[in-house]
Amino acid sequence: MYLKLSVIAALVAVATAAPSTTTTAAATPSSVAAPIIPLPPFSGTLVGAYPTQDKIAPTDTPLVKQWLAELNLTSVATWPVVPFTAGGDPQNPKAIPEAACDWTETNCINKDITTCPLGVWGLTYDDGPTEFSGKLYDFLDTTDQKATLFYIGSNVVENPALARRACGAGHQIAVHTWSHNPSTSLTNEQFIAEIKYTEMAIKELCGFTPRYFRPPYGDIDDRIRGLLWAMGYTSVIWDYDTNDWMMAPGGTRTMAQVDAAFAQWIAVAPTDKTGHVTLEHELYANTVAAAIENLPKIQATWKAMPVSACINDAHPYHETNITLATMNGAKAGISTGNTTASATVSVGGATATSSAGSSTASGSADHSTSAGTVSNVVSSSVTVMAAAAAVALGQMLF
Ligand SMILES: *[C@@H]1O[C@H](CO)[C@@H](O)[C@H](O)[C@H]1NC(C)=O
Ligand SMILES: *[C@@H]1O[C@H](CO)[C@@H](O)[C@H](O)[C@H]1NC(C)=O
Ligand SMILES: *[C@@H]1O[C@H](CO)[C@@H](O)[C@H](O)[C@H]1NC(C)=O
Ligand SMILES: [Zn+2]
Repeated sequence: MYLKLSVIAALVAVATAAPSTTTTAAATPSSVAAPIIPLPPFSGTLVGAYPTQDKIAPTDTPLVKQWLAELNLTSVATWPVVPFTAGGDPQNPKAIPEAACDWTETNCINKDITTCPLGVWGLTYDDGPTEFSGKLYDFLDTTDQKATLFYIGSNVVENPALARRACGAGHQIAVHTWSHNPSTSLTNEQFIAEIKYTEMAIKELCGFTPRYFRPPYGDIDDRIRGLLWAMGYTSVIWDYDTNDWMMAPGGTRTMAQVDAAFAQWIAVAPTDKTGHVTLEHELYANTVAAAIENLPKIQATWKAMPVSACINDAHPYHETNITLATMNGAKAGISTGNTTASATVSVGGATATSSAGSSTASGSADHSTSAGTVSNVVSSSVTVMAAAAAVALGQMLF
């Protein structure tokens, strides 16, 4: 079943229609804590040459030609590009073979992340940053809660101060295309341009390059996955959909309906076989309100954290001197000297390697289920050994 793409596209256009590229250096509120992840200087105006906002990224620029030349696409599957109708469905679904592993058509998964471990809630918000994001980030800060934010490149260049705030706070920043079109409706060249321009904006503003991607509408097949793998990406879908996007102004979904969805998931949590990855949006005032209303309930039932944290990937960016907090005890921060030292981090038998300078960490995670709640206890001890490099680590924060 497909979402009504035209409806969403129209609403996204409304949400992003504010005068753009006037990148007012909107100062982050003075109450915002100093960044955990240091940010590059920013004058208030982006210097990169970016495509028109909310339009499919062009493929004929020197930059795109350079990116294409740098990629090896020989093993990318050749499934057809499928144009979509204005109503948000593939024009010809029969053109999509089952072997293409198209998620929206058949729920087919191929190395996509769709869940977190039992007792853990992968907290994600899509389509930001928007004018409503500041309120969400304020609320997340009040409980030291970190999330995965799947950013639309067009919105990043429109709201640079909000993007920088989230980057510095240690949220996991990830890519959600430049223009929010269905991935399988784009040519290889268009899709690559959409990813790389979004990367470029995040790199300019935040100093790092994401390695995680969520397809708009969950629209992904093995051709798109092949392009993502060639660019070093892991794709993230979801298993629990709040359908909060229908809370758009003029939309049909009420707060009570979103609350009811959460209530239902919480009710069955004691019999969960896995943890979850959610789909929520920082796109409208209503969706941010729903996110804020329901986050405490999530936190009371699961251990909530970014997707990278739940799979213990301390390095969700290509710049491996940046570490984000993980469930197994890695701490958010940046190494400021040699990054040659690495540390093995173990949690209950699982191991992960962290190159956060010369820190070592050990911890244990215990998921216990009782009377309607799942509690996840993460304990860790971290030893930071003196080494050649000075290592500055922030607090362990999700
Ligand atoms: C491109 O990747 C293929 C395998 O997918 C490999 O055989 C080939 O050598 C690579 N080409 C270059 C130029 O690296
Ligand atoms: C982190 O590494 C990148 C290269 O990957 C480098 O440009 C940047 O300056 C480094 N940051 C710090 C604080 O060392
Ligand atoms: C990194 O370590 C190497 C060898 O241990 C040393 O020669 C180099 O100066 C160090 N670099 C920094 C930036 O500390
Ligand atoms: Zn989206």
